Amino acid sequence: MWLMTIIVGLVTLVLVTWLRDYVRRWRMPPGPFFWPIIGNLTLFGGQFYLTFIELAKKYGDVFSLKQGMTDVVVLNSLDAVREAFVKKGAEFAGRPTMLSGDIFTEGGKDIAFTDYSPTWKLHRKLFHTAIRGYALGDNLQSKVHESLEETIAEFSKMEGQAVNIEDHIYKLVYNVICSAAFGIRYDMDDKDFNTLIKVSKDGAEVFAQGLLADVYPSLGFLPTPGKAAVEKMTRSFLDIMQHHLDQHRETFDPSNLRDITDHMIKAQKDAEEEGIQDINSLTDTHLRQTISDIFGGGTDTTILTLRWAVLFLAAHPEIQEKVAAELDSVVGRDRLPELSDREATPYTEATIHEVMRMGTIAPLALPHTTTVDTTLRGYRIPKGTWIMPNLWALHYDPDTWGDPDVFRPERFLDESGKPIPKPPALMPFGAGRRACPGEAVGKADTFLLLGGLVQNFRFTIPEGEGPPDLAPDKKGGGVQNTPYPYKVVMTCRK
Ligand code: HEM
Repeated sequence: MWLMTIIVGLVTLVLVTWLRDYVRRWRMPPGPFFWPIIGNLTLFGGQFYLTFIELAKKYGDVFSLKQGMTDVVVLNSLDAVREAFVKKGAEFAGRPTMLSGDIFTEGGKDIAFTDYSPTWKLHRKLFHTAIRGYALGDNLQSKVHESLEETIAEFSKMEGQAVNIEDHIYKLVYNVICSAAFGIRYDMDDKDFNTLIKVSKDGAEVFAQGLLADVYPSLGFLPTPGKAAVEKMTRSFLDIMQHHLDQHRETFDPSNLRDITDHMIKAQKDAEEEGIQDINSLTDTHLRQTISDIFGGGTDTTILTLRWAVLFLAAHPEIQEKVAAELDSVVGRDRLPELSDREATPYTEATIHEVMRMGTIAPLALPHTTTVDTTLRGYRIPKGTWIMPNLWALHYDPDTWGDPDVFRPERFLDESGKPIPKPPALMPFGAGRRACPGEAVGKADTFLLLGGLVQNFRFTIPEGEGPPDLAPDKKGGGVQNTPYPYKVVMTCRK
């Protein structure tokens, strides 16, 4: 009898919750039928940004889904993304709390995963000044050139062989960031360097899988293997960050700031001496988290962009030769491309835009939340609703691009080969208050690295292999758009 009562009680609870969720949907954007408890969870599998494009055909460019029991609104058009993130910036600038993010950011003490708050603003400001001082302009250029020279020497030794260059690109990009963040440039075989890369790579994989409790926060107390894996990788990664922070503190000299880490220590000391007001937002935890964000934001994104770029160029040799010819005529062969060459190399810049459009490495950016009860297109959007901008839909919209599936840098140039104003639908860095603060670094880094590689090598698909698979690797899922592993043959141009 008591078992029957429990079952009836549970079923009633589920039905009432389900009914309540439907009532809550009142005047919210339309969307498909959702089940009790699981909602539309099945629609969030695989490359769900593609599923979302199909759903938009039925429900319109702004529609609602249930991720488990959480309301999600998906934005599938430029107009919708602009209205939410630009016109109503602050109202759509929140971040959801997810258990995996919370563990990794030690309770939301970073920039990327923390909610819209004064602490987030302070750290974004610090991030900007740190980046300006140590990871842009001549500073970035000299770091990239040093790392490139080593990679070019390595690639030259592998001339003519079919190679998967993924590991080399990892080391190339990590060395640039390590140099900006810690003032260290590692030998490619250095043990600490390789440990850092392995820990970050493993971490990104564990993190991309997410946790059940990210969808059902009330299950956060369960000691699942996934949670243990996130905790383990967080400890390994943050230990490395803290080790560098400690080392910098021992040799810190305020009159000689060496890198981003020194810059952060200085900000902390200034707050201690002057303000006190910001001190609770500038603990060591915050410092290592902001440095981690510079690592997390500045490595995987650039690595993925370069991996797509080399693949697209190997698959389109005629475009690669045009880039190489432009670099030859502007830069020559006696020096590496410099940031001052960017204006005179519109075809190379257009090619990078096209890589960022077709590669769309973050198809759904990062999830936002609404910070207040608000509206969009006349629909009601309650506070705390997850908002997913479908950047893939913007980048592959046939009405905007005409032939979105064709790799064609010329779409960013006029008839005389000059750059046209950037189309607003090209949004690889997102838009509004949460847009990527590393955009300038990402673009400059990609220009210098890709320019240096194409100036020195011709990348071709190994003989006997058919055309490369340009489809995204399904393992990337909805979070990251990763190319399938591939090999290229490098031929020295010099
Ligand atoms: C090709 C390079 C890059 C691409 C395509 C890219 C893309 C993005 C996107 C789509 C977002 C989410 C925007 C949103 O929430 O709406 C983001 C956020 C972020 N990116 Fe980047 N990014 C790149 C390079 C970088 C670099 C080089 C850094 C650091 C040096 C960086 C640091 C960050 C940070 C800290 C955030 C979180 C911002 C916040 O929540 O306020 N990114 N990026």
